[in-house]
Amino acid sequence: MAKLILIVDTGVDDALAIMTLVKNGIKPDFIIAASGNSDLDNTLNNTIEVTKILEENIPVYYGAYRPLIREPYYEDYHGQNGLANYTYEMHEFNKINGIIELYNTLKDEEVDIIITCPLTTLALLFSLEKNIIKNIRRIIVMGGAFALNEYGTGNVGDAEFNIFYDPEAANMVFNSGIKIYTIPLDVTMNPNFSIKDDDLNKMHVNSNESKFIYELVKYMVNRHGSFEMHDPIAALAYLNEKAFKYITGKISVDRNGKTLLTRDEKGSCMVAYSLDINIYQKNVKNLFF
Ligand code: RIB
Ligand code: CA
Repeated sequence: MAKLILIVDTGVDDALAIMTLVKNGIKPDFIIAASGNSDLDNTLNNTIEVTKILEENIPVYYGAYRPLIREPYYEDYHGQNGLANYTYEMHEFNKINGIIELYNTLKDEEVDIIITCPLTTLALLFSLEKNIIKNIRRIIVMGGAFALNEYGTGNVGDAEFNIFYDPEAANMVFNSGIKIYTIPLDVTMNPNFSIKDDDLNKMHVNSNESKFIYELVKYMVNRHGSFEMHDPIAALAYLNEKAFKYITGKISVDRNGKTLLTRDEKGSCMVAYSLDINIYQKNVKNLFF
Protein backbone atom coordinates (compact mmCIF):
# COMPACT_ATOMS: atom_id res chain seq x y z
CA MET A 1 0.00 0.00 0.00
CA ALA A 2 1.48 3.37 -1.02
CA LYS A 3 2.20 5.82 1.78
CA LEU A 4 0.08 8.98 1.88
CA ILE A 5 1.77 12.37 2.31
CA LEU A 6 -0.23 15.59 2.67
CA ILE A 7 1.30 19.01 1.86
CA VAL A 8 -0.71 21.96 3.19
CA ASP A 9 -0.67 25.68 3.98
CA THR A 10 -3.14 25.46 6.89
CA GLY A 11 -5.56 27.62 6.27
CA VAL A 12 -9.12 26.91 7.26
CA ASP A 13 -9.92 24.66 4.30
CA ASP A 14 -6.62 22.81 4.70
CA ALA A 15 -7.64 22.13 8.30
CA LEU A 16 -10.94 20.63 7.14
CA ALA A 17 -9.10 18.61 4.47
CA ILE A 18 -6.95 16.95 7.16
CA MET A 19 -10.12 16.29 9.18
CA THR A 20 -11.94 14.91 6.12
CA LEU A 21 -9.24 12.27 5.62
CA VAL A 22 -9.00 11.32 9.31
CA LYS A 23 -12.79 11.18 9.76
CA ASN A 24 -12.91 8.85 6.75
CA GLY A 25 -10.41 6.57 8.44
CA ILE A 26 -7.37 7.72 6.45
CA LYS A 27 -4.36 8.92 8.46
CA PRO A 28 -1.56 10.53 6.42
CA ASP A 29 1.88 9.00 7.15
CA PHE A 30 3.08 12.55 7.66
CA ILE A 31 2.07 16.10 6.79
CA ILE A 32 4.32 18.82 5.41
CA ALA A 33 3.35 22.42 6.14
CA ALA A 34 4.49 25.12 3.71
CA SER A 35 3.93 28.85 3.24
CA GLY A 36 0.95 30.08 1.26
CA ASN A 37 -2.16 31.14 3.17
CA SER A 38 0.25 32.46 5.78
CA ASP A 39 3.97 32.30 6.55
CA LEU A 40 5.59 28.98 7.45
CA ASP A 41 5.65 29.60 11.22
CA ASN A 42 1.88 30.05 11.18
CA THR A 43 1.05 27.20 8.79
CA LEU A 44 3.32 24.81 10.72
CA ASN A 45 1.78 25.68 14.10
CA ASN A 46 -1.72 25.70 12.63
CA THR A 47 -1.24 22.21 11.16
CA ILE A 48 0.03 20.84 14.48
CA GLU A 49 -2.96 22.44 16.23
CA VAL A 50 -5.31 20.56 13.87
CA THR A 51 -3.64 17.23 14.72
CA LYS A 52 -4.00 18.06 18.44
CA ILE A 53 -7.69 18.92 18.03
CA LEU A 54 -8.11 15.57 16.23
CA GLU A 55 -6.13 13.87 19.03
CA GLU A 56 -4.10 12.17 16.30
CA ASN A 57 -0.35 11.68 16.49
CA ILE A 58 0.49 12.54 12.86
CA PRO A 59 4.05 13.80 12.31
CA VAL A 60 4.15 17.36 10.93
CA TYR A 61 7.29 18.59 9.17
CA TYR A 62 8.17 21.82 7.41
CA GLY A 63 8.36 22.46 3.67
CA ALA A 64 9.05 25.53 1.55
CA TYR A 65 9.02 28.86 3.37
CA ARG A 66 8.85 30.96 0.14
CA PRO A 67 8.38 30.62 -3.66
CA LEU A 68 11.30 29.42 -5.84
CA ILE A 69 12.01 32.80 -7.40
CA ARG A 70 9.44 35.54 -6.72
CA GLU A 71 8.69 37.17 -3.35
CA PRO A 72 5.95 35.61 -1.17
CA TYR A 73 2.47 37.00 -1.78
CA TYR A 74 0.26 36.87 1.31
CA GLU A 75 -3.40 37.78 1.64
CA ASP A 76 -5.04 37.60 5.05
CA TYR A 77 -8.02 35.80 3.51
CA HIS A 78 -7.83 33.19 6.29
CA GLY A 79 -7.06 35.80 9.02
CA GLN A 80 -3.77 37.21 10.26
CA ASN A 81 -2.54 33.83 11.58
CA GLY A 82 -3.96 31.85 8.66
CA LEU A 83 -6.47 30.05 10.91
CA ALA A 84 -9.34 32.53 11.25
CA ASN A 85 -7.36 34.24 14.07
CA TYR A 86 -8.20 31.24 16.28
CA THR A 87 -5.95 31.61 19.31
CA TYR A 88 -4.13 28.64 20.86
CA GLU A 89 -0.93 27.92 22.75
CA MET A 90 2.09 27.64 20.41
CA HIS A 91 3.38 24.08 20.21
CA GLU A 92 6.79 22.74 21.18
CA PHE A 93 8.13 20.56 18.38
CA ASN A 94 11.32 19.48 16.63
CA LYS A 95 11.51 21.29 13.32
CA ILE A 96 12.15 18.49 10.80
CA ASN A 97 12.65 19.14 7.09
CA GLY A 98 9.73 17.50 5.29
CA ILE A 99 11.39 17.64 1.86
CA ILE A 100 14.28 15.49 3.12
CA GLU A 101 11.81 13.17 4.88
CA LEU A 102 9.84 12.78 1.64
CA TYR A 103 13.06 12.29 -0.35
CA ASN A 104 14.16 9.50 2.01
CA THR A 105 10.70 7.89 1.93
CA LEU A 106 10.67 7.87 -1.87
CA LYS A 107 13.99 6.01 -2.06
CA ASP A 108 12.21 2.74 -1.30
CA GLU A 109 8.46 3.31 -0.96
CA GLU A 110 5.61 4.20 -3.28
CA VAL A 111 3.85 7.41 -2.28
CA ASP A 112 0.56 9.15 -3.03
CA ILE A 113 0.66 12.91 -2.46
CA ILE A 114 -2.19 15.32 -1.82
CA ILE A 115 -1.08 18.96 -2.08
CA THR A 116 -3.48 21.76 -1.15
CA CYS A 117 -0.98 24.65 -1.23
CA PRO A 118 1.60 26.21 -3.57
CA LEU A 119 3.70 23.54 -5.35
CA THR A 120 7.10 24.90 -4.26
CA THR A 121 7.81 22.03 -1.84
CA LEU A 122 7.41 19.46 -4.63
CA ALA A 123 9.51 21.50 -7.07
CA LEU A 124 12.34 21.61 -4.51
CA LEU A 125 12.04 17.83 -3.97
CA PHE A 126 12.22 17.23 -7.74
CA SER A 127 15.38 19.33 -7.90
CA LEU A 128 17.23 17.03 -5.48
CA GLU A 129 17.63 14.05 -7.82
CA LYS A 130 16.36 13.21 -11.31
CA ASN A 131 14.77 9.81 -10.61
CA ILE A 132 13.37 10.57 -7.17
CA ILE A 133 9.91 10.95 -8.70
CA LYS A 134 9.72 7.35 -9.97
CA ASN A 135 8.06 6.20 -6.74
CA ILE A 136 5.38 8.90 -6.77
CA ARG A 137 2.27 6.93 -7.79
CA ARG A 138 0.00 9.99 -8.14
CA ILE A 139 -0.34 13.58 -7.01
CA ILE A 140 -3.68 15.19 -6.22
CA VAL A 141 -3.43 18.97 -6.53
CA MET A 142 -5.96 21.53 -5.31
CA GLY A 143 -5.21 24.27 -7.79
CA GLY A 144 -5.76 25.96 -11.12
CA ALA A 145 -8.62 27.74 -12.86
CA PHE A 146 -9.25 26.51 -16.41
CA ALA A 147 -12.37 28.48 -17.46
CA LEU A 148 -14.17 25.17 -18.09
CA ASN A 149 -17.30 26.84 -16.69
CA GLU A 150 -18.36 30.07 -14.97
CA TYR A 151 -16.63 29.05 -11.72
CA GLY A 152 -13.17 28.56 -13.19
CA THR A 153 -12.23 32.20 -13.59
CA GLY A 154 -9.59 32.58 -10.88
CA ASN A 155 -9.41 34.03 -7.35
CA VAL A 156 -6.24 36.11 -7.75
CA GLY A 157 -6.83 37.92 -11.05
CA ASP A 158 -7.55 35.10 -13.49
CA ALA A 159 -5.20 32.71 -11.65
CA GLU A 160 -5.87 30.39 -8.70
CA PHE A 161 -3.97 31.24 -5.50
CA ASN A 162 -1.88 28.05 -5.05
CA ILE A 163 -0.58 28.40 -8.62
CA PHE A 164 -0.34 32.20 -8.57
CA TYR A 165 1.92 32.04 -5.49
CA ASP A 166 4.60 30.08 -7.40
CA PRO A 167 3.94 29.61 -11.15
CA GLU A 168 7.49 28.37 -11.81
CA ALA A 169 7.06 25.55 -9.29
CA ALA A 170 3.63 24.72 -10.72
CA ASN A 171 5.06 24.40 -14.25
CA MET A 172 7.76 22.02 -12.97
CA VAL A 173 5.20 19.79 -11.26
CA PHE A 174 2.54 19.75 -13.99
CA ASN A 175 5.20 18.90 -16.61
CA SER A 176 7.01 16.25 -14.53
CA GLY A 177 5.22 13.37 -16.28
CA ILE A 178 3.75 12.15 -12.97
CA LYS A 179 0.03 11.25 -12.96
CA ILE A 180 -1.62 14.38 -11.57
CA TYR A 181 -5.28 14.76 -10.60
CA THR A 182 -6.06 18.46 -10.51
CA ILE A 183 -9.07 19.75 -8.55
CA PRO A 184 -9.55 23.33 -9.80
CA LEU A 185 -11.76 26.28 -8.92
CA ASP A 186 -13.96 25.16 -11.84
CA VAL A 187 -15.24 22.53 -9.37
CA THR A 188 -14.57 24.01 -5.91
CA MET A 189 -16.13 27.44 -6.54
CA ASN A 190 -19.50 25.86 -7.45
CA PRO A 191 -21.89 27.38 -4.83
CA ASN A 192 -23.58 23.97 -4.45
CA PHE A 193 -20.46 22.89 -2.53
CA SER A 194 -19.87 25.99 -0.41
CA ILE A 195 -20.82 26.43 3.26
CA LYS A 196 -23.22 29.20 4.25
CA ASP A 197 -24.82 30.52 7.43
CA ASP A 198 -27.69 27.99 7.20
CA ASP A 199 -25.18 25.13 7.38
CA LEU A 200 -23.51 26.63 10.44
CA ASN A 201 -26.88 27.15 12.15
CA LYS A 202 -27.54 23.41 11.85
CA MET A 203 -24.26 22.39 13.50
CA HIS A 204 -24.24 20.58 16.86
CA VAL A 205 -21.44 22.42 18.66
CA ASN A 206 -20.97 19.96 21.51
CA SER A 207 -17.26 19.10 21.55
CA ASN A 208 -13.85 20.71 21.38
CA GLU A 209 -13.55 19.62 17.75
CA SER A 210 -16.98 20.92 16.65
CA LYS A 211 -16.34 24.22 18.47
CA PHE A 212 -13.02 24.55 16.61
CA ILE A 213 -14.66 23.87 13.25
CA TYR A 214 -17.58 26.22 14.01
CA GLU A 215 -15.29 29.11 15.01
CA LEU A 216 -13.08 28.74 11.93
CA VAL A 217 -15.90 28.45 9.40
CA LYS A 218 -18.06 31.12 11.08
CA TYR A 219 -15.14 33.56 10.66
CA MET A 220 -14.88 32.76 6.95
CA VAL A 221 -18.65 32.99 6.32
CA ASN A 222 -18.98 36.24 8.29
CA ARG A 223 -16.06 37.77 6.44
CA HIS A 224 -16.55 36.42 2.92
CA GLY A 225 -20.26 35.56 2.78
CA SER A 226 -19.60 31.85 2.23
CA PHE A 227 -16.82 29.30 2.77
CA GLU A 228 -15.47 27.30 -0.19
CA MET A 229 -14.37 23.75 0.64
CA HIS A 230 -11.47 23.76 -1.86
CA ASP A 231 -9.12 21.47 0.07
CA PRO A 232 -11.63 19.00 1.53
CA ILE A 233 -12.88 18.47 -2.05
CA ALA A 234 -9.29 17.73 -3.12
CA ALA A 235 -9.05 15.22 -0.24
CA LEU A 236 -12.21 13.55 -1.60
CA ALA A 237 -10.34 12.86 -4.87
CA TYR A 238 -8.09 10.56 -2.82
CA LEU A 239 -11.01 8.93 -1.00
CA ASN A 240 -13.23 8.31 -4.02
CA GLU A 241 -11.95 8.70 -7.58
CA LYS A 242 -15.46 8.06 -8.90
CA ALA A 243 -16.68 11.31 -7.32
CA PHE A 244 -15.25 13.35 -10.20
CA LYS A 245 -15.28 13.51 -13.97
CA TYR A 246 -11.92 14.45 -15.54
CA ILE A 247 -10.48 15.80 -18.79
CA THR A 248 -7.05 14.36 -19.69
CA GLY A 249 -4.34 16.58 -21.11
CA LYS A 250 -1.32 18.78 -20.53
CA ILE A 251 -1.24 21.85 -18.26
CA SER A 252 0.82 24.98 -18.88
CA VAL A 253 1.16 27.91 -16.47
CA ASP A 254 1.92 31.46 -17.58
CA ARG A 255 4.07 33.94 -15.63
CA ASN A 256 0.94 35.30 -13.90
CA GLY A 257 -0.12 31.85 -12.71
CA LYS A 258 -2.93 31.41 -15.24
CA THR A 259 -3.39 27.73 -16.07
CA LEU A 260 -4.18 26.40 -19.53
CA LEU A 261 -5.37 22.85 -20.26
CA THR A 262 -4.61 21.32 -23.66
CA ARG A 263 -6.69 18.18 -24.18
CA ASP A 264 -4.43 15.21 -24.99
CA GLU A 265 -5.27 11.56 -24.28
CA LYS A 266 -1.53 10.92 -23.84
CA GLY A 267 -1.21 13.71 -21.27
CA SER A 268 -0.35 12.92 -17.63
CA CYS A 269 -2.68 15.55 -16.13
CA MET A 270 -6.34 14.90 -15.30
CA VAL A 271 -8.40 18.04 -14.63
CA ALA A 272 -11.70 17.59 -12.78
CA TYR A 273 -14.67 19.40 -14.29
CA SER A 274 -17.56 17.94 -12.28
CA LEU A 275 -18.21 16.50 -8.80
CA ASP A 276 -21.05 14.20 -7.71
CA ILE A 277 -22.89 16.21 -5.03
CA ASN A 278 -24.22 13.10 -3.25
CA ILE A 279 -20.72 11.67 -2.78
CA TYR A 280 -19.51 15.11 -1.65
CA GLN A 281 -22.30 15.40 0.93
CA LYS A 282 -21.82 11.83 2.20
CA ASN A 283 -17.99 11.78 2.40
CA VAL A 284 -17.25 15.44 3.17
CA LYS A 285 -19.98 17.95 4.04
CA ASN A 286 -21.99 15.70 6.37
CA LEU A 287 -18.86 15.06 8.45
CA PHE A 288 -19.04 18.65 9.67
CA PHE A 289 -22.42 20.27 9.00
O1 RIB B 1 -7.36 28.93 -4.11
C1 RIB B 1 -7.72 28.15 -2.99
C2 RIB B 1 -6.52 27.48 -2.40
O2 RIB B 1 -5.56 28.47 -1.95
C3 RIB B 1 -6.85 26.65 -1.14
O3 RIB B 1 -5.97 25.57 -1.05
C4 RIB B 1 -6.59 27.64 -0.03
O4 RIB B 1 -6.31 26.98 1.21
C5 RIB B 1 -5.36 28.36 -0.53
O5 RIB B 1 -4.23 27.55 -0.26
CA1 CA C 1 -4.64 25.37 1.02
